[in-house]
Amino acid sequence: MKNIKAIIFDAYGTLFDVNSASEKCKDKIGHKWESFANYWRTTQLEYTWLRSLMKRHRDFWQVTEDSLDKSMKAYEIDSSMKNELLDLYKILSPFKEVPEVLKSLKEKNYKLAILSNGTPNLLNELVKSNNLENIFDDIFSIEEVKIYKPDSKVYDLPINKYQIQKNEVVFLSANTWDVSGGGNYGYNSIWVNRNNNIFDNLDYEPKHQIEDLGKLLDII
Ligand code: LAC
Repeated sequence: MKNIKAIIFDAYGTLFDVNSASEKCKDKIGHKWESFANYWRTTQLEYTWLRSLMKRHRDFWQVTEDSLDKSMKAYEIDSSMKNELLDLYKILSPFKEVPEVLKSLKEKNYKLAILSNGTPNLLNELVKSNNLENIFDDIFSIEEVKIYKPDSKVYDLPINKYQIQKNEVVFLSANTWDVSGGGNYGYNSIWVNRNNNIFDNLDYEPKHQIEDLGKLLDII
């Protein structure tokens, strides 16, 4: 990886722990909290892909709520918890190494950006609630193109803004399908494999695999 000009991060699952909302309610949800959190996340992502294919866009906040409704029914969770879970989703915690790694990258000479399915408002609030608002040059939201990842129009956003080549981007995601999406598009995709998972068969092998963002500093 030479001539890297921009380091671009996926948000949900990569910088911020999507399970942290349910985890904070685990006393109320009980032992099934983690399975519930995974079901909610899977349903949320399925809705993004299905809405893109059906050409019936709804923003990520609406999709998050719609998928939560289904998940709460599936896990027989009392509807009184809905607002609490949604409020916690707005202030998800970052993975523990994230703030420090971002701060050291900030001292180097790269564009740093987020490229995410989230709405601009959600992403700005999330970054602000975690005191990371001075880190990023840009927060790119799919709302600019109103179609979800892995549509190439999404991955075009930073290329168009920075007027750089696709192979001048390092793209990091913990979501295997997003690593493949960005990689097939032409980015140098790095898989943040936090939980020793299995990669997808989607015509792309990640340039590197790291277990947390700290390892990025050894690569670039
Ligand atoms: C995002 C989802 C894919 O932040 O995690 O775009």
